[in-house]
Amino acid sequence: MTLAFNPLHPLFAAEASTIDLRAVRDAATLAAIRAGMDRYGVLVFRDQPFTDEEQLDFAQRFDGKLHTQTSQAVLVKSRLGTEALSDISNVGPNGEILPPNDRRRMGSLANRLWHTDASFVNPPGRYSLLSARVLPAASPNTEFACMRAAYDALDAEMKKTIEHLKVHHSIAYSRETLGFEFTPEEKEKLKGVAQPLVRTMKDGRRSLYLAAHASSVIGMSLAEGRLLIRELMEHATQPCFVYSHAWRERDLVIWDNRTTMHRARPFDDVKLRRELRRTTTLDIEPATVA
Ligand code: OGA
Ligand code: MN
Repeated sequence: MTLAFNPLHPLFAAEASTIDLRAVRDAATLAAIRAGMDRYGVLVFRDQPFTDEEQLDFAQRFDGKLHTQTSQAVLVKSRLGTEALSDISNVGPNGEILPPNDRRRMGSLANRLWHTDASFVNPPGRYSLLSARVLPAASPNTEFACMRAAYDALDAEMKKTIEHLKVHHSIAYSRETLGFEFTPEEKEKLKGVAQPLVRTMKDGRRSLYLAAHASSVIGMSLAEGRLLIRELMEHATQPCFVYSHAWRERDLVIWDNRTTMHRARPFDDVKLRRELRRTTTLDIEPATVA
């Protein structure tokens, strides 16, 4: 099968030609999708009627091991029965829309901050595969920012300044910036990890590795580190670096967390049902390269 990619933005993101990913098992097609990810960072596949099982299977065929700690999973059990499937919805265990003060709802509001998935644990997330199951009529977009183009556009002095810096990422921090509170025990579980600020991809291109979880720069004062993170976040999320995805039901969008950031956009989530499922792969050396 020949798979083609149609660019959706001048810098990154593309839509794949017609394909049923549930049936994709051959090495050549899986390799073509991985090459598309290396090139575009975000790929949109329309009309993918995945069940949970099929999505879990495809994500593993595509990139091996699945992440199980991409949210506050250590604190709250998923209603979906497996932590490898992230419940990106505003729906509770009995299928009801979560009430305004629900803790999971409040936690998931943090998806509206620019972030990369699971940068606060090691290994972090590599690819995220988000499947749109139920969308409200006026569905909010998800925005993606191209971190390779953002890196390339930095001036030489800034590139030099940040070259070897490490940044601490913690999910407690990103939630706290929105006023969310954690007990000392929860904080301990969510204390986070250090990550390089600049990542080099296998083709030699560099990428800014940023997220709302980025809480401090190792070796800098808290204030100066946070100012640097804020400056880079503002730079990297300028409209010229952003692709805004308008969802259709049964879309599968795959993004590379190493080369993009993303954020959810607001909608009336106490009235309208929105259900997506995410599988995220572990950013480790692929066990089998097909
Ligand atoms: C995610 C995420 C954004 C959205 O699934 O990781 O950030 O629009 N989702 O739901
Ligand atoms: Mn996310």
